[in-house]
Amino acid sequence: MSSVKTLPGSMRTHHCGELRESDIGKTVTLCGWMNKYRNLGSLHFIDLRDKYGVTQLGFESFKGDVNDLRAFSLESVLTVTGKVIARPDSAKNAKMDTGVVEVQVESIKMLSHAEEVPFLPHGAVPATEDLRLRYRYLDLRSKKLQDILTLRSNTTRAARLALYELGFNEVETPILYKTTPEGARDYIVPSRVHPGKVYALPQSPQTLKQLLMIANTDKYFQICRCFRDEDLRADRQPEFTQIDIEVSFPTLEYMKNLATHMMKNIFALPENFTMKGVSYDEVMRDYGSDKPDVRFGMKQMVVTDLFKGSAFTTFAEVATAQYGMVKAMFVPATMGTLARKDIDALVEVVKPYGGKGVAWFKVENNAVTGGISKFVDPTLLNALVERATVAGNERGDGWFFFTADKNFNVAHDCADALRRHFGKTFNLVKGDEYAFLWVYDFPLFDYDAESNTLAAKHHPFTRPKDEDMELYYSNDKSKIANVKAYAYDIVCNGYELGGGSMRIFDNKQQSRMFELLGFTPEDAQHQFGFFIEALKYGTPPHAGMAFGMDRIVMQLARTDSIRDVIAFPKTASATDLMASSPSKPNPAQTKELGFKWLEE
Ligand code: AMO
Repeated sequence: MSSVKTLPGSMRTHHCGELRESDIGKTVTLCGWMNKYRNLGSLHFIDLRDKYGVTQLGFESFKGDVNDLRAFSLESVLTVTGKVIARPDSAKNAKMDTGVVEVQVESIKMLSHAEEVPFLPHGAVPATEDLRLRYRYLDLRSKKLQDILTLRSNTTRAARLALYELGFNEVETPILYKTTPEGARDYIVPSRVHPGKVYALPQSPQTLKQLLMIANTDKYFQICRCFRDEDLRADRQPEFTQIDIEVSFPTLEYMKNLATHMMKNIFALPENFTMKGVSYDEVMRDYGSDKPDVRFGMKQMVVTDLFKGSAFTTFAEVATAQYGMVKAMFVPATMGTLARKDIDALVEVVKPYGGKGVAWFKVENNAVTGGISKFVDPTLLNALVERATVAGNERGDGWFFFTADKNFNVAHDCADALRRHFGKTFNLVKGDEYAFLWVYDFPLFDYDAESNTLAAKHHPFTRPKDEDMELYYSNDKSKIANVKAYAYDIVCNGYELGGGSMRIFDNKQQSRMFELLGFTPEDAQHQFGFFIEALKYGTPPHAGMAFGMDRIVMQLARTDSIRDVIAFPKTASATDLMASSPSKPNPAQTKELGFKWLEE
């Protein structure tokens, strides 16, 4: 607070976290909420609280009637004037910033009476999350949430400064717009002026920032709100904030440097900070996830080939299936012990990811027991141990675990879930480091073999790698699925903090993309015609990225809940419990908008 300027005219001389020994003797005026009242018969104390802290008020030299204090309810807003005195040594409180002083109240006034609150924001017993969300403004009075709001504000400032320093311009783009596909459903807003027509809220300003590059803006950024109607998770909200960036004439190296510069400034990392780069294929092989928490090792191995022709038919079948994969991981005995019931419970860990079970065996003094050990001969054991060692695992006693599926994505997802589970079980994350990764060379598409369809892995504006261009224009979708993209993610401690790509800047390449994604020429024209046209008029090579501000603040605040870092968040079912939103439109509104609402 020392660097904060003050202006004359405040109702108070100090805030409640400010008074120190050096203030003893001063007459001060404080304002705040009544946090606590203690009536010890002859002695009365009030703890007055504001955003900055708590100050103890005493009433020994109070000229008014102390009995009046009983009418003051907790959470009422008070103003007091009094003299700062030293507390007797026995009453000093080292846990409080203001713990060596007390204000001896001369006058006290209630500015706003609080009725009995549904819960005390600083109470010892936490209220349920639903109740806290319903009375969000009370919950926000807590120090924890106020500190996070301040942290978030400081983070926004650090991001802006880091970008201004590089000559970026902040440009605002429309909220009432047209679809900007990022893989979710759009939130739509009916138009009154054009009955029956709708705007879409941007899932991100993707096409707009690219148009700004075509428009010679060169270096754009925006701290912007994005809207996505998708299944919510612990790190997702239907509206969230991005630090959105786009630049003209960059190389891939520039983009990595830019991401490093942003992370360094936002996370206050040392000057020599660099981000470890790992290709998508490598990260999937090693961790089964494109956003692994690399604060601990336990790298995995792809061992599909070792089970071809195995007597363990389940794995043998997977190993010969076109998209089958068997993954292994090794848990050394030095990590801890696993009882039989712990191992049996692992099936529950993989079930949500489509896993049917977790195969395993134990190694002790080079002998194998348990699980699928009867299918593991010394040659197979040797091969597994060798691969585990190459992956960086220690040798010796322990357990091998396997996830296998005819769809390699399931094998990866289950292996990732298991690794995260072991990470927690064995408490492998120690300390409070940030482990960053720059994951690059993502596939351009997700391929669904059953329907033979392609979907954009990042978004439809991402450029295929030059060396895969021939494949991009070829005819077999199952092969086109192997095209790699100039796309990258920024990962920290198991969270995807940001992502981006070099963009298509050729209108034919862009039209081909829509064709591959299954758009008819008419649909592509209807939705993106203006954009494909813009690409014709001189488009600089350009690239960009967006960081999830909420997820960054989650990391900085070290919380697992995205709701902690948003002032007025929504629940997992996208509702605002405080304002009861969404709500039914009134009939006059729907009539004006030219909409007929179906009754349930
Ligand atoms: P992407 O969709 O990867 O890329 O989003 C970028 C980052 O935004 C955050 N994020 C979210 N945060 C909270 N709730 C959500 N529902 C949510 N969805 C995404 C993540 C993610 O890494 N236009 C591209 C970027 C680009 O190519 O420049 C985009 O939006 O941290």
